[in-house]
Amino acid sequence: MASEPDPDADVPYGEDLQSPEGARAWADAADRKRPHRFPIRLAIVERIKALPDGARVLELGSGPGLLAEQVLSQCSALGTYTLFDFSEPMVAMSRQRTARFAAAQFVVGDFRTRSWAIRVPGPWDAVVSTQAVHEVRHKRHVPALYRDIVEILAPSGLFLVGDRTPEDDSPRSTALFMTADEQLSALRGAGFIDVRLVTSGDALALCEARTPPAGSLTRD
Ligand SMILES: C[S@@+](CC[C@H](N)C(=O)[O-])C[C@H]1O[C@@H](n2cnc3c(N)ncnc32)[C@H](O)[C@@H]1O
Repeated sequence: MASEPDPDADVPYGEDLQSPEGARAWADAADRKRPHRFPIRLAIVERIKALPDGARVLELGSGPGLLAEQVLSQCSALGTYTLFDFSEPMVAMSRQRTARFAAAQFVVGDFRTRSWAIRVPGPWDAVVSTQAVHEVRHKRHVPALYRDIVEILAPSGLFLVGDRTPEDDSPRSTALFMTADEQLSALRGAGFIDVRLVTSGDALALCEARTPPAGSLTRD
C-alpha cells in the first residue's frame, strides 16, 4: 500500500534556478505569467522612495534584478541596495541589469542555511523580497527566516514581502505557499508590528511590516 506523503517534508525543486537555462527561462516568463508582479514592484518602489537619503536596502532572492533595477532607477538617494541570491546565473543577470547603479552590491548566499544572515548583517533600513520566500521549500521554515530578518533590520525597519499564495489545495501547493493570512501571522509571530496586506492577485500577495522602534519592550 502506498504511504501518504508527509505534509511536513520539504517540497522538492520543480525547476533548476541555479542552471543558466533554468534561470533564463524563469526570467523570460515571470512577468508574462503573473502580471500582478508589476503593481507589486510599484508598491515596493513607492515605499522605498519614502526612506531617508542614504538608506540601506537588502533584497532576498533577487533573481534577474527586475525589482532592483526599478528601485535603483527611481530611488537615486539610496546608500546601498544589496542583492542576495544563491544562483550564479541569476546574479550575473542582475549585475548586468544594474551595472549603471553605484549603490548595487551583490552577495551569493543561501538563505536555507542557518548562518545566511552573517553574510548580510545590516542593520538594514528595509528588506524586500518577491517570489522567493517559498524557496525555503516548506512554509514551516518561514517563521525562522522571518526571525532572522527581524534581527538584521534596524529598529522601525521595513520588511516588504511579496510571495506566492496557493493556487489549489494540493499537498504541494499548501506546503510550499502561504495564504495571505498565513503570511500575516508568520510576520506577527516573528515579532513584526504594523503588519498588513498591501495587494494581491495572480496567486501573489504583498505584505508589509516593521520591526518595533528602538527601546520597545517587544523587541527583546
Ligand atoms: C522565483 S525567483 C524570483 C526572483 C525575483 N525575486 C523576482 O521576483 O523577479 C526565486 C529566486 O530566489 C533564488 N533562491 C532560491 N532559493 C534560494 C536560497 N535558498 N537562497 C538564496 N536565493 C535563493 C533563486 O535563485 C531565484 O533567483
